[in-house]
Amino acid sequence: MKARIVSTGAYLPSKILTNLDLEQMVDTSDEWITSRTGIKERRIAHEEEFTSDMGLKAAQEALAQAKLPPEKIDLIIFATHTPDHFFPSTACMIQKELGAKNAAGFDIQAACSGYLYGLSVAKSFIESGAYKNILLVASEKLSSIIDYEDRNTCILFGDGASSAIISNEGAGLIIPHICLGSDGDQENLIKLPAGGCRKVASKESVDCREHFLRMEGREVFKHAVRRMEQAAIECLEHEGLTDADVSWLIAHQANIRIIDAIAKRFSIPADRVYKTVHKYGNTSSSSVGIALHELLLDGNVNEGDRLLLVAFGAGLTWGAALLEKNSNG
Ligand code: UT7
Repeated sequence: MKARIVSTGAYLPSKILTNLDLEQMVDTSDEWITSRTGIKERRIAHEEEFTSDMGLKAAQEALAQAKLPPEKIDLIIFATHTPDHFFPSTACMIQKELGAKNAAGFDIQAACSGYLYGLSVAKSFIESGAYKNILLVASEKLSSIIDYEDRNTCILFGDGASSAIISNEGAGLIIPHICLGSDGDQENLIKLPAGGCRKVASKESVDCREHFLRMEGREVFKHAVRRMEQAAIECLEHEGLTDADVSWLIAHQANIRIIDAIAKRFSIPADRVYKTVHKYGNTSSSSVGIALHELLLDGNVNEGDRLLLVAFGAGLTWGAALLEKNSNG
């Protein structure tokens, strides 16, 4: 039995933060941001709009597309590192809103690799026969942990959510293989220093702005290209495939230069590399799911097409997933 993605969803908040807006906030320029990252604008959630709200909207779209009643969901996996609360889990919060009464639910935290980690867990549960229908949601309100006085990071990130229903039958995208990896030796490269039990929230931690994301961008860049390339090779080799068998590449939408570097290493033509980074920036765990959803909506994925998804994030964590379009169920 092969797990398959039978539907997808996405949600982006309506408020747009452009590079020109950022020029008014920190010492930066549209020219610098565009040439170094490819980002032109990103979406920012409303003050009263949270990770669970965005995830809920993405989930509702995937459920509607699959024509699946919420009671038929067996499990909700919610990938986020900007949850509404430490607990209860964001999965349980959307379970209530969806009315998914028969589902178990939990959150997973693999930073920007969350969608692929979640997909891997869903695939395993389906293929073990434990569950029939799993709702995967990846959602981030990154604007809640971004320091809008730090030009190194505030220009990069945006808010958004994506989702997928993974089932044991039906037409969709079969998931032949997923590879995951992590390297805790590099845990300091992207970090939220305070707010956990190691450094609890205090006046001092707030004064030191330690509740905002910190990143060593240049170092992360090098690891990102190397690790996503390595994961992609491992994934393709496992299936006896090469880059020539890949119809579409969807890489974590962190930086256009990272995406282009990976595509170049695989000789994947530019028009087969799907990008949303220019309009949404880096939406962390939700990024590859949003791109996948939009690619499918464009209608350019044909029977037998193979999609290669790669992601990378804090931890460090990374992953690659191979998907194959199969309309026959
Ligand atoms: O989602 C998790 C994974 N995250 C990533 O994959 C992010 C990976 N890293 C990156 O995308 C890039 O490293 C950045 C976009 C973050 C930075 O680009 P870079 O080409 O690596 O720039 P840099 O950090 O080497 O900085 C070059 C210069 C520095 O000035 P000096 O030291 O050369 O005088 C920075 O201070 O650019 C300066 N700079 C800026 N200038 C204008 C940094 N941020 C800005 C800014 N506007 N926003």
